Amino acid sequence: MKILVTGGAGFIGSHLCERLLQDGHSLAIVDELNDFYSIEEKRANLEAVRQAGDCLFQAAAVEDQAAMSALFAAAQPDAVIHLAARAGIRPSLTQPLLYERANVRGTLVLLEAARQAGVRRFVFASSSSVYGAANQVPFHENDDSLRPISPYAATKIAAEKLCYTYSHLYGLSVACLRFFTVYGPRQRPDLAIRKFMERIEAGKPITVFGDGSMGRDYTYVDDIVNGIVAALDDEAPFDIFNLGNSSPVPLLDMVRAIEAALGKEAQIDWQPEQPGDVPITFADISKARVRLGYAPATPFAEGLARQAAWLRSRR
Ligand SMILES: NC(=O)c1ccc[n+]([C@@H]2O[C@H](COP(=O)([O-])OP(=O)(O)OC[C@H]3O[C@@H](n4cnc5c(N)ncnc54)[C@H](O)[C@@H]3O)[C@@H](O)[C@H]2O)c1
Repeated sequence: MKILVTGGAGFIGSHLCERLLQDGHSLAIVDELNDFYSIEEKRANLEAVRQAGDCLFQAAAVEDQAAMSALFAAAQPDAVIHLAARAGIRPSLTQPLLYERANVRGTLVLLEAARQAGVRRFVFASSSSVYGAANQVPFHENDDSLRPISPYAATKIAAEKLCYTYSHLYGLSVACLRFFTVYGPRQRPDLAIRKFMERIEAGKPITVFGDGSMGRDYTYVDDIVNGIVAALDDEAPFDIFNLGNSSPVPLLDMVRAIEAALGKEAQIDWQPEQPGDVPITFADISKARVRLGYAPATPFAEGLARQAAWLRSRR
């Protein structure tokens, strides 16, 4: 299949692209290589992808309509997997318009290009943050009382709605996948596991917000990639799937598990809870299990050990 991946130089995107090449797909990648974190790191991610096979790469912003029209004409994709986004929650509180442009306009530009190019399948990377301060756990896709508490989360809901509209109006087959805190080698440097690992490894204190009870449904990146690949083959007109681990880990247990993975003790600087942080994320994954055969299989300790090994291999 000819597949266009947006955000392919990023954390999840680079793992996905390697897998798609290994599976024999023909691949085009678009990524603007922005400086949300080190561009060198993104180039290294792309280099890892290139080791897995040849692909077309274009450095462009997904909200650039002319660039996307030209790219779709050149790549003629059967399917689009749209991962490119401004992804951090906290910076979205200070730069909401930047998030709106990349995450909402960017998604609409791609949907429109996909419609015009007759794309068969569109897979969109959404987020567990859309549930926000939801009062029903575990989170279920049928819950329509979404209460986003960050501009980032609101942009993901807006993008999901645009996906629905394009499916309804134009018959574009779309899956929106709500990822739950993804971790593993190449994890984004703004995410807690990566930050904590680097600081504990360097003997520096870590800042823990709240009382340590905040739960996150950490999901290993290979499990997420399996879910994305499975969603590619589903042909339903429109669906939303949770891709999580369905086993939330309290923050303090996460710190203890990192200590075990590194064989080092953390010094903790306790700070009050931050605005935008939700108390828990917890995925009900029964829909993805039944429909996609999604079955996350990486124990937390093993995933952390792989991430720790990657961190040490970079030195
Ligand atoms: N990592 C997680 O825990 C997590 C959880 C929920 C949802 N997600 C979603 O998954 C997707 C991938 O996340 P990630 O953690 O790999 O992030 P990432 O930042 O590592 O990857 C995103 C990539 O998209 C590119 N990009 C950003 N804005 C762009 C734009 N306007 N045009 C073109 N390229 C652009 C970036 O340069 C980057 O390489 C994102 O949509 C994110 O919102 C991630």
